Amino acid sequence: MRTDRTFTMLKPDSVEKGHIGAILEKINAAGFRIVALKETQMTTADAQAFYAVHNERPFFGELVEYMTRGPIVAAILEKDNAVEDFRTLIGATNPADAAEGTIRKLYAASIGENAVHGSDSDENAAIEGAFHFSGREMF
Ligand code: RTP
Ligand code: MG
Repeated sequence: MRTDRTFTMLKPDSVEKGHIGAILEKINAAGFRIVALKETQMTTADAQAFYAVHNERPFFGELVEYMTRGPIVAAILEKDNAVEDFRTLIGATNPADAAEGTIRKLYAASIGENAVHGSDSDENAAIEGAFHFSGREMF
């Protein structure tokens, strides 16, 4: 994957609350091009692997439960400086700390259920995009 790409998931709470369209619209309005997109549901093994970096953390079990309880929307996004700019667009992990107008400020309920994922580096964006999409699904 190129370094002007990042990976996102609209997490189960966003799908449950009917926020897919509104969040994708904000992503488009911020200048990201959607180059891969699907609704899917992660298995427990998928979520444990995807968030393996957190497997020693006290919230790991809750995180896996949350991320597997319903469908998510996975997407790869393209824009100059995609990883950093997308983290700015989504806001802080805890919505209480997120800036006004950010996706988490608008749509996240709590630090645990925070509406969206955004890759934290170019390297992880490539790994995470490949986790969810085959080459034929990226444009
Ligand atoms: P993400 O990876 O999902 O984009 O979130 P992030 O970088 O902002 O935050 P990270 O530290 O990577 O945490 C991953 C996800 O774990 C859940 N979490 N719960 N209960 C808690 O204290 C807690 N802390 C983190 C959140 O869903 C967070 O997005
Ligand atoms: Mg993270």
